[in-house]
Amino acid sequence: MSDWTDGYLTDVEYSHAYNRELNPLAARLALLEAGLSSPRFDTACELGFGQGLSINLHAAASTTEWWGTDFNPAQVGYARELGASSGVDVKLLDDAFADFVHRPDLPDFDFIGMHGVWSWISPENQGLLTDFIRRKLKVRGILYIGYNVVPGWASFAPIRHLMAEHAALSGAAGGGKLNVLKGTLEFVERFLATNPVYRRANPMVVDRFDGIKGKDPSYLVHEFLNGHWRPSYFTTMVEALSPARISFACSASYLDHYDALNVTGEQWALLQSVPDGPFRQSLRDFMINQQFRRDYWAKGAARLTHLQQVEGLAAERVVLVSQRPQVELKVKAPLGEVSLHAPVYDPILDLLGDHRPRSIGEIAKAMQPRNVTLKQVMEVVMVLAGAGHLAPAHDDATIARVRPAAGRLNDAILERARSVGDTTFLASPVTGGGVAAPQLVQNFLLGHRRGCRTAAELAEFVWQNLDAQGRKLMSQGQTLETREANLGLLTSQASAFLDERLAILKALQIE
Ligand SMILES: C[S@@+](CC[C@H](N)C(=O)[O-])C[C@H]1O[C@@H](n2cnc3c(N)ncnc32)[C@H](O)[C@@H]1O
Repeated sequence: MSDWTDGYLTDVEYSHAYNRELNPLAARLALLEAGLSSPRFDTACELGFGQGLSINLHAAASTTEWWGTDFNPAQVGYARELGASSGVDVKLLDDAFADFVHRPDLPDFDFIGMHGVWSWISPENQGLLTDFIRRKLKVRGILYIGYNVVPGWASFAPIRHLMAEHAALSGAAGGGKLNVLKGTLEFVERFLATNPVYRRANPMVVDRFDGIKGKDPSYLVHEFLNGHWRPSYFTTMVEALSPARISFACSASYLDHYDALNVTGEQWALLQSVPDGPFRQSLRDFMINQQFRRDYWAKGAARLTHLQQVEGLAAERVVLVSQRPQVELKVKAPLGEVSLHAPVYDPILDLLGDHRPRSIGEIAKAMQPRNVTLKQVMEVVMVLAGAGHLAPAHDDATIARVRPAAGRLNDAILERARSVGDTTFLASPVTGGGVAAPQLVQNFLLGHRRGCRTAAELAEFVWQNLDAQGRKLMSQGQTLETREANLGLLTSQASAFLDERLAILKALQIE
């Protein structure tokens, strides 16, 4: 095999992931909250787009011109078919980074993003991408990078090394990568069962290994068996990216913006005692045992005045994208599960419960009689968005403009979901990006579009489709053999779809 892969694994396709941090609207909210300016996102680029779900959803549901590349032809083929269905002129190239970065036809970009790429490519490719960012990211432009960091990987990194070595040995004897993975996982299990001193010195590796074993094999192959794999310290990233003349702006994980969810009072005091710069970020990674960072970086971002920030936030719109939580609301954060303060959260959730986009200014005004401040409203917005309940939203004119393309993309995704369940996001013209919708929800939505109105009609619609493919549902590990049993389960799930899900999908203009 010729080495066009640069040490990157190409014989197993990556999973169909969606990353909301790559949505420029998500970046704008995080930057505003951090008191930094954002450019108008006219042009954007995704490096190593995998199956291309993120780039296609973002291109179809926004007015931004998207460019991207990935050198795995099988993935690019899927991405291009999706792209063609939306009718949007999204530029999905199959160039290796070494070729892409020198293309003469590229515009300068307001946003460049890469998720799950940096830690898995060679130092030469990292250098090429840094130079690309230096040349092609506009002044005031934003970079997003999601990458592995050392503290969270420190004790487990030797297991990944062992897996890669074992896989190389057994791969040489033949057999596809997925088979090799199976053998390698079994081998590591046997190794840990021998109670080696390494296991005793690093007791958490057993739980960690148990946690990864059941994950999607195509993810595991890419994460663990790739030729390159190098988690970074935050300070190493600062050094690596410094030739691109960018600086760290803020975390793309909204929950990271609130120290109270992440560090204890004692840890906070220690963090405050060191300069507010890369070392503080690095120290914080140690405190929360950070494993994967999602960061926005900026090329010369302007610091907003207080007035600019308040006015910017007041104009920013958000929408509730999940069912309004009826019981006590909790979020998972590094400090554990945190219950959210009902007197502040409940009225805001009540207001947003109709799933209409509202500006943060409108929310703050409605909360004034309850003495809830803009600062508190912002915290609620960021925490709910960080927990996946809320998303930033476009203005009405943009929603109307992008709705046809998002609709065409959704048509193609819904059609695919009749037989394949790998694409579990739909495009919302409201949020400018992807909204989670598992295969069955997509099947019900298709049935609804085709005129099924009751739970029984929807169940029958989905059953006809399954039956035509000789497929049956599973319940509690058992296959449901009869038509009646399948229809029974489908009908109860269709009721839940009609009662809870459909109204949200409609509000997000995914119909
Ligand atoms: C772990 S996957 C992540 C994919 C996607 N960003 C996501 O999060 O779903 C890394 C991707 O980078 C691509 N890649 C790796 N090295 C590359 C190179 N030298 N040129 C272009 N693409 C590359 C791979 O084909 C793969 O799809």
